[in-house]
Amino acid sequence: VNCPKENTVVVNLGERSYTIHVSDGLVNRLSELILIRLHGVTGCAIVTNEIVDNLYGKKVEASLSPLKPFKIVIPDGEEAKTWAQTERVVGELLLGGLDRKGVVVAVGGGSVGDLAGFAASIYLRGISIVYLPTTLLGMVDSGIGGKTAVNHPLGKNLIGTFHQPSLVACDIGLLRSLPMTELRSGFAEVVKYGVIADSGLFKLIEEQESRLLKAESTVITEIVGRCAAIKSRFIEQDEHDLKGIRAALNYGHTVGHAIETLTTHVVRHGEAVAMGMIIASRIALDLGILKDRDFERQEHLLKVIGLETRLPPIEPKLMLDALHRDKKAEAGRILFILPTGIGAPPKLRIISDDIILKVLEE
Ligand SMILES: NC(=O)c1ccc[n+]([C@@H]2O[C@H](COP(=O)([O-])OP(=O)(O)OC[C@H]3O[C@@H](n4cnc5c(N)ncnc54)[C@H](O)[C@@H]3O)[C@@H](O)[C@H]2O)c1
Ligand SMILES: [Zn+2]
Repeated sequence: VNCPKENTVVVNLGERSYTIHVSDGLVNRLSELILIRLHGVTGCAIVTNEIVDNLYGKKVEASLSPLKPFKIVIPDGEEAKTWAQTERVVGELLLGGLDRKGVVVAVGGGSVGDLAGFAASIYLRGISIVYLPTTLLGMVDSGIGGKTAVNHPLGKNLIGTFHQPSLVACDIGLLRSLPMTELRSGFAEVVKYGVIADSGLFKLIEEQESRLLKAESTVITEIVGRCAAIKSRFIEQDEHDLKGIRAALNYGHTVGHAIETLTTHVVRHGEAVAMGMIIASRIALDLGILKDRDFERQEHLLKVIGLETRLPPIEPKLMLDALHRDKKAEAGRILFILPTGIGAPPKLRIISDDIILKVLEE
């Protein structure tokens, strides 16, 4: 029998532990995986968006048919992450009659996942959520760790909860339909993991460069598995992001979130994170905690992947205001995650407005 290679990563969080499965074809095994994990599950709601529904809706529904699923389709993209959509989804869950032993299955990228996870976390005080991420970013990042969120007009992800999934199924095969720009965006987060935690992973991407953007199954399975393992270790040590450990995962996100908000998400999450990593790295260079060579390797890799490393035209002052409104800002002080090398633990530092402005103006 041709048994496809499967990676599994367990996130150890006591009662809230779960498994991340990584392999090709998992979409066909959804109900089997859910039934093993959630004994006595009473019903199932699929939350997806228009685009993903057209691509995989039938397959997902067929796979989940033993659970008699009903489907909730939300608008595409970041715009769906609103309070209004949350209310609508919750309403549909009620109309569908999902009870406290029901499960929400989020089928889509980080946008679908963040909204569906949030809705599941507040519905009847919280029911199970299962992720079937369909973007690289969803597989390596947003599907893992239990952060859920919708946006507020004043900023990104300002409304949300911690709600760990019961199961994450990363079906690599679903990436074949993903547009190149979205794949690139996901690779920004992969590079992030390499920089903050795994020089071997960084090297692997440098070496596999030509195969990466073809989303070649064996390479991607390995990469997704490695990223999932890295993220899990951070989550296990600091589930609620209070000890400054999980914060390392926000490398590139301080400026990244501001760019997303200021460009009203025209710049994608991963694209913004790539730019944010470069700004954080410049600050680290400035402070003398990062070597030129490591800066260059990172900048080169991002460029090879096809990510833009220069900022879009944004007034530095506006950027600074946005940074002050971010939820990572504490008492008016802006916290940066600064790299100290490739695969070396980053440092958390409060950076003064002067230094930030100086680097932004460069
Ligand atoms: N919760 C977390 O810990 C966390 C972590 C990182 C990012 N996020 C959030 O994730 C969001 C970004 O997620 P994303 O990058 O996955 O974007 P996305 O969910 O908006 O998806 C990007 C685009 O790809 C389309 N798409 C999805 N899967 C596809 C497929 N298989 N084939 C073809 N098209 C497909 C989508 O419809 C969308 O148009 C942001 O809102 C970000 O804040 C959350
Ligand atoms: Zn991110």
